[in-house]
Amino acid sequence: MNILLLGSGGREHALAWKISQSPKVEQLYIAPGNAGTSSVGTNVDMSATDFPKIKEFVLANNVTIVLVGPEDPLVKGISDFFKNDAALQNIALIGPSQLGAQLEGSKDFAKAFMMRHNIPTAAYQSFTAETLNDAYAFLETLQAPYVLKADGLAAGKGVLIISDLNEAKRELAEMLNGMFGDASKTVVIEEFLSGIECSVFVMTDGKSYKILPEAKDYKRIGEGDTGLNTGGMGAVSPVSFADEVFMQKVEERIVIPTVKGLRFENINYKGFIFLGLIKVNNEPVVIEYNVRMGDPETEAVMLRIESDFVDLLEGVATETLSEKIMVTDPRSAVTVMLVSGGYPGDYEKGKTINNIDDVKGSIVFHAGTTNKGHKVVTNGGRVIAVSSYGKNKEEALAMSFKNAQLIDFEGKNFRRDIGFDL
Ligand code: AMP
Ligand code: GLY
Repeated sequence: MNILLLGSGGREHALAWKISQSPKVEQLYIAPGNAGTSSVGTNVDMSATDFPKIKEFVLANNVTIVLVGPEDPLVKGISDFFKNDAALQNIALIGPSQLGAQLEGSKDFAKAFMMRHNIPTAAYQSFTAETLNDAYAFLETLQAPYVLKADGLAAGKGVLIISDLNEAKRELAEMLNGMFGDASKTVVIEEFLSGIECSVFVMTDGKSYKILPEAKDYKRIGEGDTGLNTGGMGAVSPVSFADEVFMQKVEERIVIPTVKGLRFENINYKGFIFLGLIKVNNEPVVIEYNVRMGDPETEAVMLRIESDFVDLLEGVATETLSEKIMVTDPRSAVTVMLVSGGYPGDYEKGKTINNIDDVKGSIVFHAGTTNKGHKVVTNGGRVIAVSSYGKNKEEALAMSFKNAQLIDFEGKNFRRDIGFDL
């Protein structure tokens, strides 16, 4: 079969790498892809949100499965676009409907969904500019620090955690006044939770589900989890504290009620559910939902899936996921992200990347790269994910750090302490 994967990051290279290993695949297309995805498939110069162009491509190239990497096309309704177009009826789009994508696209929607289905999450209330005084009153009932979240997508920047009450009130007013544009017209104010976080990934066909290997990502730019937030500086799988007892609770209290809740509410959902969890007194609590795989978690998680990933995708597409088997690799897998100098602030692009072909013992996933003549050059803040296996995380990390040293480009930066807290 022919598969089209939408997206262009490290997550998509890792997905493409895994998909390309399946004997079921004839052609794998990635749109728009990056310099790395072109080594495991064919890049197509097409935006992941240009639905008419995607339709044309899919029909012209006999694509039967479309896998959506990032959230943007999902929140913009690509699943409904496919469902409502007679010519696209027989093409399986892996990703939730626009309504289902609201689990990520609207924090208020996600919180209300969790409340309706008794899924453990932080206490909250939502406010708009009209209810500013009520919001101030609610803040006064909470203990510091104060968690303010823009309702909509804000490129990962929409969550503020503030220790001073008056500052929290000022920032809240700014948010409601358009700090994040329309995304912060509604603000969710949440109880602060303290604990260690991890990401759990679920695949669902709307009826059944499979839990993929969990991972922990490292979001801050600085070692010891300091400095500004990034798209993610590395990831580790498995996560030591997510043991059998913890994962059993995750399944019973979160995964099952989520999948059942979507079905009960007639929300069409075939794709991935990403649970951002925090462990509070040994109990899992949901911090957020995403409606796609995580990045950089995917660059570790794909290494730990032994099963034919395309067979699992087919299970989602044909609602036969319950008949499929998910086999995980018992080894540890990690990824270390090489980023551009200056990132997550301003950085330069177009730096030549050297020594990629000399890497031994790791799998190199491209994130922000592009081809320039015969060279591969940097094309984003997060440039390359260096993923490795090991019998434990220490062994895997040692291999990734060694190859992270070897690969070179001007301004290269990476965290040398991925996994330090596990
Ligand atoms: P979110 O976009 O909702 O995942 O929030 C971004 C980050 O803010 C999370 O990964 C947490 O580290 C932190 N965060 C969000 N909500 C809370 C909360 N209620 N208590 C403590 N930390 C939080
Ligand atoms: N690693 C977090 C995310 O993909 O949103």
